[in-house]
Amino acid sequence: MTTLWGGRFSEGPDPLAARFTNSIGFDQRLWDADIAGSIAWARAIYRAGLITEEERDQLIEGLEAVRVEWASGTFTIQPGDEDIHTANERRLGEIIGKEIAGKLHTGRSRNDQVVTDVRLWLRDTSERLRSALLDLQQAAIERAESGLDILMPGYTHLQRAQPVRFALWMMAYFWMWQRDRERLDDLMRRANLCPLGTGALAGNPFDVDRQTLARDLGFPGITPNAMDTVSDRDFILEFLSWAAILGVHLSRLAADLTLWCTAEYGFVTLSDAHSTGSSLMPQKKNPDTLELLRGKAGRLIGDLTALLTVVKGLPLTYNSDLQEDKERLFDAADTLAVALPLTAAVLREMTLHPDRMTAALSDDLLATDLADYLVRKGMPFRESHHVVGQAVRRAEELGIPLRRLPLTELQAISPLFGEDVAEVWDFERSVERRRSAGGTARAAIEAQIAQARALVRK
Ligand code: ARG
Repeated sequence: MTTLWGGRFSEGPDPLAARFTNSIGFDQRLWDADIAGSIAWARAIYRAGLITEEERDQLIEGLEAVRVEWASGTFTIQPGDEDIHTANERRLGEIIGKEIAGKLHTGRSRNDQVVTDVRLWLRDTSERLRSALLDLQQAAIERAESGLDILMPGYTHLQRAQPVRFALWMMAYFWMWQRDRERLDDLMRRANLCPLGTGALAGNPFDVDRQTLARDLGFPGITPNAMDTVSDRDFILEFLSWAAILGVHLSRLAADLTLWCTAEYGFVTLSDAHSTGSSLMPQKKNPDTLELLRGKAGRLIGDLTALLTVVKGLPLTYNSDLQEDKERLFDAADTLAVALPLTAAVLREMTLHPDRMTAALSDDLLATDLADYLVRKGMPFRESHHVVGQAVRRAEELGIPLRRLPLTELQAISPLFGEDVAEVWDFERSVERRRSAGGTARAAIEAQIAQARALVRK
């Protein structure tokens, strides 16, 4: 077994230590990025005059051959392959000969190589996640538009509060996802910089032109400091924090919908495809998909917490602890790669029950409107709030719904009540009054949807 660093060692690693420190088991998925980075590096050291044109071409041809093996599933990992960098270089040597393959690593370290690979991988992955998030936003817009007529109770403290349109609830999630998308774009601006050419920690001694190298790999810029570059994992921490926040948003949606598909609410029915049965109770239809969407947030928060804990207090510069970054990163990305399209499918395929939503609209949801009625007659809100409280109590004493309280009873509490108070008892009217920007009136939501549409088109 040969390692990349065996020169000073008299014996090979303890098999247990090797199993413990090797990363090939999980970093092999960086194969494509690793080869892309190496091809660009071969060009860079040629430009710096370190290898001949012929050697450069042989390196590139060899690397392309290794790429084909990975792509076709014929690459065989050998016992000595510690990580993806070692594996690719070992195989390159077997294909083009160790003499030339041995020149590829000139001026490069696995420390700048590994972060280059991860940043390249993240660039592709985040692009895919971004599209999935965009599609989820699209699903929210579609649902909001088709549910514009549906009224339901809005809740605070999980108590019925005021009547709202279903579309206002749906669009609330759209905006969370919009911020998630903006956060991703923002963090990717920092992540999308080229680390290659910073060496182990002190920079490159062969005058490699990092700007040209960065352009070659499609990076818009380079990282500014070699020591920072090889020890910085902020870009992964930012991604994990993004993933955790997005996960939390998905969990809140899942929490709403799990409640809504109980018999007690009955606002939605989840599609059979997103539900499972019970092994014991034949009648059960469990919202497993939703529960796991809610549960996965715990895992995403865990990924972030794990890496923060690894990086905390780590002395500069590279330390092997940093190898712990990849499994957390992959786990978060893999989790969202499924969770995002699944959430979109749940939204598109669930059945709403507008009758049940409307049936949940009780008179007490219009108590604020009754207070606002008195405000329009000139009473200060603090007072009208109190007056309506008295009316609610009186209705309770008489055992009748608030709207059935006779006008004489209302007038006994405040002379400002008139015949026109009857108009308060209309949920549609209550909703339509809230037409200021961001409110639940049809026009306000339509304006929101138009704004949202423009954002997903951009
Ligand atoms: N497998 C390592 C990692 O994931 C690659 C870098 C190793 N560098 C080193 N000096 N041992 O971080």
